[in-house]
Amino acid sequence: MSRKKLHSAKSFHAVVRLPGDKSISHRYAILASLAEGRSEVFNFSPAADCHSTVECLRALGVKIEESEKGIVVHGTGLDGWKAPRRTLDAGNSGTTMRLMAGALAGQASRSSITGDASLRKRPMKRVIDPLQAMGAQIRAKNEQFAPLEIQGGNLRGIDYSPKVASAQVKSAILLAGLFAHGETTVHEPVRTRDHTEIALRELGAQLESGDGAVKLRGRPRLTGRTLVVPGDLSAAVFFIAAALIVPDSEVILQGVGLNPTRSAVLDFLVSIGAKLSVESVAMREGELIGDINVRYATLKGGKISGAMVARMIDELPMLAVLGAFTEEGIEIRDAQELRVKESDRIAAVAENLRGMGAEVEEFPDGLRVAGSRNGRLRGNTIDPHDDHRIAMAFSVAALGADGETAIRNPDCVGISFPGFYTLLDELVKPEA
Ligand code: S3P
Repeated sequence: MSRKKLHSAKSFHAVVRLPGDKSISHRYAILASLAEGRSEVFNFSPAADCHSTVECLRALGVKIEESEKGIVVHGTGLDGWKAPRRTLDAGNSGTTMRLMAGALAGQASRSSITGDASLRKRPMKRVIDPLQAMGAQIRAKNEQFAPLEIQGGNLRGIDYSPKVASAQVKSAILLAGLFAHGETTVHEPVRTRDHTEIALRELGAQLESGDGAVKLRGRPRLTGRTLVVPGDLSAAVFFIAAALIVPDSEVILQGVGLNPTRSAVLDFLVSIGAKLSVESVAMREGELIGDINVRYATLKGGKISGAMVARMIDELPMLAVLGAFTEEGIEIRDAQELRVKESDRIAAVAENLRGMGAEVEEFPDGLRVAGSRNGRLRGNTIDPHDDHRIAMAFSVAALGADGETAIRNPDCVGISFPGFYTLLDELVKPEA
């Protein structure tokens, strides 16, 4: 498929079950590989990114079976990974590269890990520095980019305060901390998603958290078990936004992950006028899950900044685009991290929104998108810069725009959500 064409949509009513959460799937695959015994992981994400993690683990000698229901991981225990015979490939996935770098730092053998052109431009010094401080030797291009060559083993626990608010950095340090002598403590500048901490506890590690710090005791015994991945909230957001853009629509998303370190997007939407409720809330494997019900409503608009940014980092492209459909617009600040994601997401959103006729002001750390008083968006050709979340955000914008929108390289959605267009075409029909 070279271009995906979309048009303004008729109102729709849908009940949706989403694929498994990408972030949690990476962690379950890696931690189950380091656990003793078999783990069955249901609703494992079909994302290409999670497949990259599975392939890296297989290259380290871990047996992983895949089926429609999920994956089965035959854990090797902490000391069971084999020296890889080839360079590991993280593809487009920052989570794969940074989390695997942490676990590889704990291995006595030498390994190397690389990724695609986008990943080879993303900052890795943020994980190289703490892993070196723990005793790993790491070589990188210009000391900061992949490929990374890692000679690990014999690590010592550290007390570390990363400068950036990043769950990937925290997780890389904790994964290395599994292999380290003594305790490893990470102090976060701002609270980020805590899926690694939750999964570690579920598999048997001893972990203390509080006052912005997480402390892990080295060399725990992890035990394999059955795990069920919640539906992906970051994927749900595209359907939530679709229901908020297409008048008279309603969508119910079942079994979605509602971890409070991820769910700020829902609080924000309610604060600007969304008719959104959460039902059937339950706890599974330490993760909160529930059904989200959202109905079309006029949105006021508002500002996102400070600590809330980290709790909705992956939803910001969709929220920025949604700004053009609100009365007063949406402003996003303190989000400079968006510039070093799969694409420069601030620039990619600004460029494509302007192409659809929106008024956008760009800042080094964010953007301001004017509201719909300036008129409706018009369809255009969208360049997602090979970034899945940009492609999906503008596909949703197209549902409320005049004329035709064409998304270039729409297959890039497979990085997180391979079934996105099949589901969208099934639920949302063009206006006659
Ligand atoms: C992720 C953390 C976030 C997020 C990414 C997934 C994770 O990245 O943007 O999509 O699974 O830990 P940072 O840790 O770089 O903020």
